[in-house]
Formats: sequence, C-alpha cells, structure tokens
Amino acid sequence: MENIESLMGKSDMLALGKLLNSCLRDKVAIAEIGSYEGGSTLTLTKESIRYDGVVVAIDIWEDEAVCTRFWENLGGFIKLGYILPIRKPSVDACRLFADKLFDMVFIDADHKYSSVKQDIGAWLPKVRSNGLLCGYDCEGYYSKYSKAKQKEIDAKDNGVMKALYEIFGDGYKIAPQSRIWYVAV
Ligand SMILES: C[S@@+](CC[C@H](N)C(=O)[O-])C[C@H]1O[C@@H](n2cnc3c(N)ncnc32)[C@H](O)[C@@H]1O
Repeated sequence: MENIESLMGKSDMLALGKLLNSCLRDKVAIAEIGSYEGGSTLTLTKESIRYDGVVVAIDIWEDEAVCTRFWENLGGFIKLGYILPIRKPSVDACRLFADKLFDMVFIDADHKYSSVKQDIGAWLPKVRSNGLLCGYDCEGYYSKYSKAKQKEIDAKDNGVMKALYEIFGDGYKIAPQSRIWYVAV
C-alpha cells in the first residue's frame, strides 16, 4: 500500500500531509478531486483517520484498470467508512454537498486552465471558514513572469498557475519544496 502509483513526488506528499495537519479536528471532512490510484488519498486518510474523519475521493476513473487499483489499494479504508469514493465528474459531484462543509478540499484533477478554473469556482464555496483550499501542480506565480514567458505558459497544457492568478491574483501560496498550492479560506 505504501507503493501506490502516484503522479506526485515524495516531497509533495509530505507537504500535503503538513497542510492537512493545519486543519485537522474531530470528524475532519476532506474532499479530494482527482484520486487516480489512491496515492494522495492514502496520505490524506492516514492523517484524518486519527480524527475519525472522512476523505471523499472524487474521480471519473475513465480507465477501468485504474479504478480497480484504487479499490484494491484502499478497499480496507472504504469498507470502514474512512474513504467515500464518488465516481463522477468534479462539478457534478460538487452539487452533492452543502456549502462550507469541508475542512479541506484538494484539487488534482484535469490541470488544463479552463478545468482548474471551473473546479476552483465549484469547490471554493464548499470549504468552511478557516478551512483550506489547495491543489497540485503549480509551478509558481504567473505575475512574476515576463509577458513573453506568460505567452509560453498559456500555450502549455498545465493551466494551474494562470487559473490561480485569475482567481486569487498573487494571494495563494506554494508549500515549500513542492508544487502544492493553497489558499486559507
Ligand atoms: C493527476 S491525477 C490525480 C493523481 C492523484 N491525486 C495522486 O496523487 O495520485 C488526475 C485524476 O483526475 C481525474 N479527473 C480528470 N478530470 C476529472 C474531472 N472532471 N472530474 C473528476 N476527476 C477527474 C483523472 O481520472 C485522474 O485520475
């Protein structure tokens, strides 16, 4: 289980665990958007389980084999109710939950600019006051780049940085030695 395939590195996982620590409380509620085979889900669950919390793991799991591996990897936690998997597109799953319900929402689904913007818009209202909205694959601060470099960034598949800039300006942070971005709500 420690070797679950993940697209995040070790230092990203450490940063994610540390961030979660800042909003842990009894019955902590976390939503993860984009769970893949469950690597980051496990990091979140290991922390939240100590507080009898739940991780809602949302993914479309287009690839059946990936979905099967998610269940093989985390079936024990799912049976015990520590993980609630939801196989739906992010914005559809979002409608199942009341506003201000989650202590932390972690967005790591489609990293294209329009998708990230849509996911942030959908999930931001679901975070409680003093909770945390965060996500993966942020390379830096869009405003710090020259116009020419911004054009290059715009042409890339990864639109996380630009989406963050348009929503929060420079008002988001990046956890040290990681590509995890976060905003205190
Ligand atoms: C980068 S991977 C997630 C990696 C995972 N967080 C980890 O660290 O192991 C992105 C996942 O998002 C899912 N995904 C992509 N678009 C989605 C959408 N609109 N709604 C829900 N899940 C989506 C994909 O199926 C994929 O499993």
